[in-house]
Amino acid sequence: MTPTPAAGPVLLARALTVAYGGNTALALDQIEVGRGEVVGVVGANGAGKSTLVNAIAGWSRGAPRVSGEVWLGGREIGGLPAHARARAGLLLVPEGKLVFGQMTVDENLSLPGQAPAGADRRIYDRDAVFELFPRLKERRGHLGSQLSGGERQMLGIGRALMLGPQALMLDEPSIGLAPRLVSTVLQTMRTLAATGLSILLVEQNVRAAIEVVDRLVLLERGRVVAQGTAAQMRDDERIARAYLGGHDA
Ligand SMILES: Nc1ncnc2c1ncn2[C@@H]1O[C@H](COP(=O)(O)OP(=O)(O)OP(=O)(O)O)[C@@H](O)[C@H]1O
Ligand SMILES: [Mg+2]
Repeated sequence: MTPTPAAGPVLLARALTVAYGGNTALALDQIEVGRGEVVGVVGANGAGKSTLVNAIAGWSRGAPRVSGEVWLGGREIGGLPAHARARAGLLLVPEGKLVFGQMTVDENLSLPGQAPAGADRRIYDRDAVFELFPRLKERRGHLGSQLSGGERQMLGIGRALMLGPQALMLDEPSIGLAPRLVSTVLQTMRTLAATGLSILLVEQNVRAAIEVVDRLVLLERGRVVAQGTAAQMRDDERIARAYLGGHDA
């Protein structure tokens, strides 16, 4: 069960727009994640999901024009560069990218520096990451490049947790994983949320995502076209038709 959200969302993005040249890739009114909540973002290829989490994290591919507000724990951080947002507790796990291929699992999990401790932040150490993902412990001597996609994803999440996130964003953590691993990785989101972590989860696998999220947001061409609780969205025609294989209501 999700803990009761404290006053106000932990993560809030408002009036967020991203444009590449003259093309608006994202025009978002508002998205928010409460304490201990898992919010899923789904949509087709090119819908703007990565653009959304990258903009919130302060990352830019190419040279997008970004405007809007990003709030973390009641503080506006939209003017900060990406590394400062990360220090403030806003972490993005991009697709398999937080992993160094030429270092072992152990070495990868020794890298992050100390995050400044804050009231709401749990900073994982290597043993805590191993507890969350026992598989990584078995592979601790293996190089990052020798890991499977799922193991690499676990390692990336583990590294982000060592930085003490208040809000964690993940860009398609299930991509390329075998079905059993998909549910292992996604169920971990529930475990983390139960500790109070706020999670924004980008997923193409709607069927799997809807099992673990509290709320789901559907993006189309950079705009939110539907959102609601997991239960509501399971019955939403646009979700059912496009992702869950038909709708018979
Ligand atoms: N660096 C860039 N320069 C120009 N256009 C870009 C750039 N990055 C993304 N876009 C465009 O912005 C739109 C949204 O892309 P984005 O990567 O956010 O989609 P996505 O929902 O993450 O898709 P996918 O599911 O394939 O990862 C797309 O039309 C894409 O072509
Ligand atoms: Mg993407």
